[in-house]
Amino acid sequence: MLVDVGEASAFPERGMRALDVNGRRVVLVRWGEEWFGLYDRCPHQGGPLGQGVVLAGPRSEGVGRIGVDEREPVVSCGWHGWQFYARTGRSTWDEGCRVPSYRVEVRDGRVMLDAPPSWRLARQA
Ligand code: FES
Repeated sequence: MLVDVGEASAFPERGMRALDVNGRRVVLVRWGEEWFGLYDRCPHQGGPLGQGVVLAGPRSEGVGRIGVDEREPVVSCGWHGWQFYARTGRSTWDEGCRVPSYRVEVRDGRVMLDAPPSWRLARQA
């Protein structure tokens, strides 16, 4: 179920913003022309990801060399710095650790987040 969360121009072009969508706290990441949605609770101790930062992720450039991958934004939690790929919600260091992620698209200048149907049901209960 697509939910309109606002005007695309109101979001920073290379940043993120937390907001409520059908009663759930979500972080919207805008990275150039790409958009991502993550649940705004860190699996470590429940910290708000939206109070952290989003930066270009790491990329291996050979043994002992780490570069920056401008195509792969990473969100760092505001409390203790755990990091998650904005594209998938997966932790950068542990494949088994992830934050729920949600598809986001822009239609006619409006940002639309694909909210799970269970969110609507929980709101109606
Ligand atoms: S609560 Fe997010 S890193 Fe600790």
